[in-house]
Amino acid sequence: MDSTTTSDTVATRAMDALPGPRPWPLVGNALQIQRERFHLQLEEWARQYGSPFTFSIRERRFMVVTQADSIGQVLRRRPDLFRRTERIEKVSAQMGFLGLFTASGDTWRRQRPMVLAGLDPAHIRQFFPALVKVTDRLRRRWEKAAREGAVIDLQADLMRYTVDVTTGLAFGEDLNTLESAGDATIQQHLNVVMPALFKRLLSPMDPPAWLRRMRDREMEPHLRALRTAVHDFIAKARAALQARPELREQPQNLIQALVAARDRPGSGVTDEDVAGNVLTMLLAGEDTTANTLAWMLWHLHRHPEAAAAAREEVDRVLGGANGVHSLEQLAKLDVVEACASETMRLKPVAPFIMNQALGDTVVEGVSVRKGQMVICLMRPPGLQEQEFPQPERFDPLRWRAEGAAAHAMASAKRHTMPFGAGPRMCPGRYLALAEIKLAAAMVLANFELEEVAPEGGGEPRERIAIVMAPVGLKMRLRPRGPRAGLNPATPTSPAAGA
Ligand code: HEM
Repeated sequence: MDSTTTSDTVATRAMDALPGPRPWPLVGNALQIQRERFHLQLEEWARQYGSPFTFSIRERRFMVVTQADSIGQVLRRRPDLFRRTERIEKVSAQMGFLGLFTASGDTWRRQRPMVLAGLDPAHIRQFFPALVKVTDRLRRRWEKAAREGAVIDLQADLMRYTVDVTTGLAFGEDLNTLESAGDATIQQHLNVVMPALFKRLLSPMDPPAWLRRMRDREMEPHLRALRTAVHDFIAKARAALQARPELREQPQNLIQALVAARDRPGSGVTDEDVAGNVLTMLLAGEDTTANTLAWMLWHLHRHPEAAAAAREEVDRVLGGANGVHSLEQLAKLDVVEACASETMRLKPVAPFIMNQALGDTVVEGVSVRKGQMVICLMRPPGLQEQEFPQPERFDPLRWRAEGAAAHAMASAKRHTMPFGAGPRMCPGRYLALAEIKLAAAMVLANFELEEVAPEGGGEPRERIAIVMAPVGLKMRLRPRGPRAGLNPATPTSPAAGA
């Protein structure tokens, strides 16, 4: 028996003694893992071995926890007792996007308030007219597709939407990839870079530099192009600060705040920090929100009764208009928000959070040594029957329960943490929810979801490359007919010209 103790608990087991898949000599469980379905493999093992269980990739040992309490305990003990893994920090540094997501220690402490300030609800409110404008562009793009009976590449279009929003809010740039005729280049670069990053993270070995260069040949031009785009964003922010020095004290967006901090003597913020965080915003803000929206539209198509409840709310709140035009309307879209919560419970796009111990500690009675890895598996707690009756069912209205059921739901809510928990909880959650509600309300107000499915129908495959995505979702829309008892849809929003 291991005798490691912390203030609140005693270790009764060592990590090595936990149940788990049988490791092979030298490689551990590396050969049993298919990278693109890593999260599904972990979930299968969790069903087989219970929580916690263990596996290894070469000499790296991992413990996996699926209990909401243990997950909360690990995530809340950051940044002092747990950090993101050294490997993600190293790989991100090699690829040039060491930013808030990957940083640790004092670098993270310095950066977090800046990023939080750029994404807080006050900034989202200020940015709201631009958010409405971008959503209106998505509506026009999809109206054209609906008129022409065209098949929509759902994720590609949603990524245009989220890139336009993120660059608008965080960098003050109106990229307008939604209306650009050509390729949406930033998205295409990200689509190559994200899987390459994930591949390196899960690679059993750290390859020598020459082998890395050879393997990266395909990815390198995309990374270079992204870096060029990032440096252009930074150059524009710097030019704005030079033209209007007062912006240094009152920056208008995240990138201006980062550049102003970088220039302050003794700030400790470097050029790499600025560039790394600009890339981080693109990586963290794009796929996550786009994929959640894609899963949500897929669910709404499969569940007409849920779509009808959400549409009834949208029609009532918007009074027949073709989109959300005020913050008051946005705040009233409770059923739409419940659809988002239910989607994130069943299809969390961040299905696990990796943590590395900074010192010896105890988790769920297991001794965790400094440097060992604890993976929080985020979907299983949201699928517990006692918390969510008929847990596999898409039932958004469970989030709107009243009376005794509301009480039960308040406790069940602690079991889903789509945005993480504790000091490193996602700072983009207000923006993400605003985007999701605006886009979903726009779809429900204007279109019938004729088809949302992968090629050949059925449930789309889940594929992970840092963020979990549905594979190959296509959508066909039909313009909605006139709505009885409502004002005719207004052609443009008051904020559209903002
Ligand atoms: C539905 C959309 C989103 C989901 C589900 C999501 C989920 C997450 C999760 C699970 C984490 C890790 C939290 C933890 O470790 O406890 C995270 C971190 C982060 N997210 Fe998001 N996210 C979303 C959208 C966004 C957006 C729109 C942005 C910014 C534009 C963003 C920026 C970040 C950043 C910078 C971090 C790192 C925070 C830190 O380590 O201190 N996210 N997100």
